[in-house]
Amino acid sequence: MTFRYVFVAVLISAALVISAFMINQYRPAVETAQPTANFIKASGKCADCHRNETGAVVHQFDRSMHNRAGINCLDCHKPVGSQAGVDHNGFVISEGLSALNCAQCHKTEYDQFLRSRHAAPAWAAVVGRDDFTPEQIAHAEKYHKGTVDRNANALALLEGPAAINKGCAECHDIGKPNPDGSIGTCTACHSRHSASIELARTPATCGQCHMGPDHSQIEIYNESKHGVLFAAQKHNFDLTVDPKKLSTADMPIPTCSTCHMSGLDGQKVTHDTTERLSWWLFAPVSNKRPTYQSGQNNMKETCLKCHTTDHVDTFYAEAEEVVFATNDKIKKVQEIMKGLRDEGLLTPAPFDEPIEFLYFDIWHYFGRTAKHGAFMGGADFVQWHGNYELLLKTIEMEEMAAEIRAHHKQKRQEGADHASAAQATD
Ligand code: HEC
Ligand code: HEC
Ligand code: HEC
Ligand code: HEC
Ligand code: HEC
Ligand code: HEC
Ligand code: HEC
Ligand code: HEC
Repeated sequence: MTFRYVFVAVLISAALVISAFMINQYRPAVETAQPTANFIKASGKCADCHRNETGAVVHQFDRSMHNRAGINCLDCHKPVGSQAGVDHNGFVISEGLSALNCAQCHKTEYDQFLRSRHAAPAWAAVVGRDDFTPEQIAHAEKYHKGTVDRNANALALLEGPAAINKGCAECHDIGKPNPDGSIGTCTACHSRHSASIELARTPATCGQCHMGPDHSQIEIYNESKHGVLFAAQKHNFDLTVDPKKLSTADMPIPTCSTCHMSGLDGQKVTHDTTERLSWWLFAPVSNKRPTYQSGQNNMKETCLKCHTTDHVDTFYAEAEEVVFATNDKIKKVQEIMKGLRDEGLLTPAPFDEPIEFLYFDIWHYFGRTAKHGAFMGGADFVQWHGNYELLLKTIEMEEMAAEIRAHHKQKRQEGADHASAAQATD
């Protein structure tokens, strides 16, 4: 009798063990691949507490690709490299995150970003070389000569630190060096907790910084055929598709990222926004980049996913005519400035005479806008915000130069009269 009970008990437990195995086998993969104790500990505990403390962070993370891929809070928040760690509710988290935390898993994107003008050149454009190590300067100068080994911006110095901090820096810190030796931030385009490519493909994301009269890219885009169609049809598009699979069916209208960065129908994604450019349009007088040919080929490859060769070549030829014509107009005002300087009628200091501001506005606002408008489909920017202003301001400048000359002549005359009067009384 005892044996029978023992036998039944063994039989039942064996059956239980086997069925447990079988049930487990049929559990969905997400459940069996359930993360380690570490994951539960890290995302569970951080999320539990932070749901009450900073709810939005947790809700953003919940919806992200990172969450679906099993990345947890600590994967990003743990100290890496030389980052200082701080004790935080039973965990050690980094005192401050940077591109280095993302680069742990996204080295390719970081390396491309590092070659781009979004990295060191962006920060040096404001503060100059001082914040960079010699290695960082050497790396950036290899790709963009003269963009990091340079002095602080004269206008920024005159405006002062408070203005730089909440002004220039808010856009240019995309390439600010971090205490851990890395450069810049990835979150300007992806945000911290959404880490989204959909966001990066949205024009307004680039428009945070690419706006205003000196680089009116978002305004130009919004008035272009591309921008108008995107606004009208975007609800039919899928901006979340993996860059390696993105096709013109998902996004038949280009946004900033499509032309400057995206993978499209097999084209390679790039975080180096220089790769598809052929001119230095932002310069007072625009020259061809050393990578003119490859830059133009790369961009045209994108256009050609949607347009014919003729259409694209004509578009480029007409836009380049605007570059040549604008260069001529800017050279003319440069001659006026040079004339005044050669005659000793201007001080060597920058931005201390009204005519220097007028000159700056002419190339920095109106010249640039005309060129950018021509390349991105903004007729109004080529014409009314561009060429019309160029004409008007050049005439104002000629008048101002004549007044400066007359004023100095009068002062010289007065000086001479004074001297001869003094001589007469000797
Ligand atoms: C027991 C609750 C709790 C847990 C667990 C917790 N935190 Fe926090 N955390 C807080 C509170 C409270 C703050 C401060 C909020 C404030 O200042 O309003 C904070 C602040 C932070 C900050 C900002 C730090 C700063 O200096 O501004 C970060 C980043 C952070 N937590 C990340 C994490 C991560 C990552 C985890 C898991 C590894 C985690 N937290 C676990 C409660 C918690
Ligand atoms: C993809 C990487 C990444 C992941 C995953 C991540 N964070 Fe963050 N988090 C960041 C970055 C970057 C910052 C900005 C930190 C800085 O400037 O030092 C940040 C900032 C924060 C802050 C400060 C927010 C503020 O506005 O003051 C808190 C709190 C925080 N994270 C909590 C969490 C929690 C909780 C999780 C998990 C649910 C999490 N993070 C997951 C990258 C991440
Ligand atoms: C611990 C590794 C890890 C870290 C740290 C990390 N990521 Fe990721 N990231 C991943 C993985 C894994 C994926 C999913 C890749 C896939 O499935 O192709 C991903 C995907 C992405 C994507 C594509 C999202 C999409 O919608 O397709 C972006 C953008 C991204 N990460 C940005 C960041 C940024 C920005 C940071 C730093 C703030 C960061 N990542 C930190 C591992 C990481
Ligand atoms: C609203 C964002 C924003 C602000 C504010 C801003 N910039 Fe810029 N800046 C940009 C963008 C975007 C470009 C790229 C223009 C282009 O290539 O068409 C740029 C280009 C430049 C350039 C030319 C590129 C180069 O490396 O020589 C310089 C110089 C510059 N900025 C300096 C400054 C200074 C100095 C300030 C503050 C006095 C400032 N910027 C404020 C966004 C901004
Ligand atoms: C946080 C501000 C910021 C954001 C967001 C931003 N940019 Fe920029 N971008 C800059 C600055 C600043 C420069 C000028 C850097 C320099 O040359 O000094 C620049 C330069 C560029 C250039 C010119 C590069 C060259 O070689 O001359 C391109 C193209 C560009 N950005 C495209 C984009 C696109 C596309 C997006 C969105 C996906 C974007 N940017 C988002 C600040 C930003
Ligand atoms: C100027 C804006 C901008 C910045 C800054 C930026 N990204 Fe991106 N990123 C994009 C865009 C746009 C895409 C989507 C490209 C596409 O549409 O094919 C993207 C795509 C990605 C992807 C998916 C790539 C793939 O092939 O699946 C990852 C991962 C990523 N970025 C990580 C990063 C990291 C890490 C950094 C910082 C070193 C960074 N990004 C900085 C705009 C940016
Ligand atoms: C249809 C494609 C297309 C779209 C969409 C587009 N661009 Fe461009 N962009 C171009 C072309 C073409 C040029 C000139 C390229 C050259 O130099 O050969 C250019 C030039 C630029 C430059 C000038 C760099 C310099 O030398 O001064 C910046 C910055 C820029 N674009 C940013 C943006 C931003 C931001 C958006 C969205 C608001 C955008 N672009 C939308 C095609 C596009
Ligand atoms: C993802 C597809 C796509 C890409 C990439 C693209 N376009 Fe377009 N473009 C369109 C569509 C669609 C229209 C709207 C045509 C219509 O009116 O139906 C358009 C309209 C235009 C127009 C105005 C209408 C016309 O035919 O005159 C011009 C000019 C233009 N594109 C030039 C360019 C140039 C130059 C590039 C590359 C720098 C480019 N596009 C890249 C899809 C694209």
